[in-house]
Amino acid sequence: MAILTCKDLCFAYDGSTVLEGVNFSLNAGNYLCVVGENGSGKSTLMKGLLGLKSPDKGSIEFGDGLKSTEIGYLPQQTQLQRDFPASVREVVLSGCLNSLGRRLHYNDEDKKRAIFNMERMGIEDLQDKSYQALSGGQQQRVLLARALCATKKLLLLDEPVTGLDPIATGEMYNLIKLVNLCDNITVIMVSHDIHAAARYATHILHLGQKQLFFGTAAQYRESALARRFLGGNRI
Ligand SMILES: Nc1ncnc2c1ncn2[C@@H]1O[C@H](COP(=O)(O)OP(=O)(O)OP(=O)(O)O)[C@@H](O)[C@H]1O
Ligand SMILES: [Mg+2]
Repeated sequence: MAILTCKDLCFAYDGSTVLEGVNFSLNAGNYLCVVGENGSGKSTLMKGLLGLKSPDKGSIEFGDGLKSTEIGYLPQQTQLQRDFPASVREVVLSGCLNSLGRRLHYNDEDKKRAIFNMERMGIEDLQDKSYQALSGGQQQRVLLARALCATKKLLLLDEPVTGLDPIATGEMYNLIKLVNLCDNITVIMVSHDIHAAARYATHILHLGQKQLFFGTAAQYRESALARRFLGGNRI
């Protein structure tokens, strides 16, 4: 059963179209990697899926009882976010914000969820530390734990390994694959790392102001587009 179906999606800013013709569908447990050059519309699509930006045309349908408020999101990082003045525990707990409803405070279940996800990401020893004092790799684990507090079904990750060294990058990819496989969480990850995309993802969506490719990672590897994008190097 499809957890997400996008039909003929189109996005514009101030009347100027930046992304069009997006048509794809994902089943629960799929791992989609979204690739494309700078400005190709990847982050715009993520914001559309989250309901933060309305499509100018087309539709986004969720299946499996999923609501747009139950999506875990790791945003593309800016320097401002890196300097966020809060403790690791507070940042992770803020992933439970959408489930607060009318409550003013986090309850024991929220706190247990935060601890569980910090343990899963191996950051429980950092929980009293200031977020801004952490390394880039530690910060990304904190944000992944936060995103996992928000969802049991769908994770959106916008360039989660940017700026990380090769070891931290590999660890991050392994953690993402682990929650995808063990918890059957559907993953949509924006990445410029096409090699990792082809290795970890089940499906690839290649954007360039419009949809250039959607299919399985195996189909993508064989496509002329992948070869062109990689400058002739096979993946
Ligand atoms: N808030 C905004 N207002 C106006 N134009 C925007 C806005 N956000 C993005 N755009 C434009 O929309 C297009 C797509 O931007 P988007 O951020 O989705 O690209 P991207 O594929 O995520 O790029 P990158 O790889 O650099 O993160 C770009 O031309 C960008 O300038
Ligand atoms: Mg982006």
